[in-house]
Amino acid sequence: MIEAARAFQQHFGSPPLRLARAPGRVELLGNHTDYNQGLVMALAVDKFITVAGAPRADDTVEMVSTAFPTPARFSPDRLERDPTVPWADYPKGVLAQLREHGLALRGFNAAIHSTIPLGAGLSSSAALLVATALLVRKLYPYTLDATGRLVSLPPFSGEERPALDAAEKLALARLCQAAENRFVGVNCGLLDPISSLFGRARQVILIDCRDLAVDWTPFAPGFTVVVAHSGVRHALVAGEYNDRRATCEAAAAALGVAALREVSPELLEAKRSLLTPHQYECAVHVVGENDRVRRGATLLRAGDFDRFGQLLWQSHASSRDYFHNSCPELDTLVELARQHPACVGARLTGGGFGGATLNLVRNGAVEDFRAHLAAGYRSRTGRTMESWVCHVVDGAA
Ligand code: GLA
Repeated sequence: MIEAARAFQQHFGSPPLRLARAPGRVELLGNHTDYNQGLVMALAVDKFITVAGAPRADDTVEMVSTAFPTPARFSPDRLERDPTVPWADYPKGVLAQLREHGLALRGFNAAIHSTIPLGAGLSSSAALLVATALLVRKLYPYTLDATGRLVSLPPFSGEERPALDAAEKLALARLCQAAENRFVGVNCGLLDPISSLFGRARQVILIDCRDLAVDWTPFAPGFTVVVAHSGVRHALVAGEYNDRRATCEAAAAALGVAALREVSPELLEAKRSLLTPHQYECAVHVVGENDRVRRGATLLRAGDFDRFGQLLWQSHASSRDYFHNSCPELDTLVELARQHPACVGARLTGGGFGGATLNLVRNGAVEDFRAHLAAGYRSRTGRTMESWVCHVVDGAA
């Protein structure tokens, strides 16, 4: 049986009525570009959060997670953060948004199971937000139009569900982002929920965060994505993340543009004196990443994966030297990856300040590469490294 359904049965003593599932994502290229209206490439990967649920007659929501011992129990009328069950802040954030949009939400029971490793930069948080929103959509049907307006629907008969179209997926992604921004307190962009919703098997998702256009191009056949977890997660990640976002926005304002997306490398150099050193360094990273994503899309479409890999090394160097969102452990992982002949590119992936690296590795040498990384990492840092092979899958439906 599906783990989430088993956990539901165990905790609530009856089977769930509905299931919803959303994948994690890997940020392939385009670091901290999303909230700067920039360009980013991502993959939805075969690590999932599944939420099993059933409505209740009263106005209580009770949620359990196979990853945490303490259940969360609360009223949808009183949605507050609770430091004793911090994982429940994510579903609560979604419920708060749905309520704010006018959904008449009553109680329900839910059990969550994740195969997305926590804190490894694969965005288990966005998958949890998306899976929660989709579960609630099955229990208390609603649609969102392109402007984000929510309309409650009569209960669906049987298993019939209207499929999510692109406009509704975008509205849902925005709702999930708002949940994380406003309820959890991390000012993240749209990369994670868009990736979880718009993924396509064996395809790279190309997101233009200025007009929220989404496109796809085939992912490197002959190569495998290996995600390597440093095992390090810095305290104050949210504070560092929010600092970088605020700094990028201040840099854009100082340069007289709406967002760093509008800035070319030439303009940045010409107007460098208007920026503080920290603003300048952050802008160099973001402007450079946009440029690398543009060039990377051309290389992927041409099937030139070796040269695409070069952009990954460059992206990591830019994180390390300019955006300062790397750390010695991530730098070590990238240096070790460089030593292996089957790896054509590696970089930190996601927010940074700890977390994981993404490695593009030739098929056939994947296990050798993982062993090389694990042994090297142990001998250089004394730490154990976990890695995962990630297959590119369809997004949540
Ligand atoms: C985190 C955020 C994303 C994005 C990346 C960095 O994953 O959730 O919105 O900003 O960091 O690219």
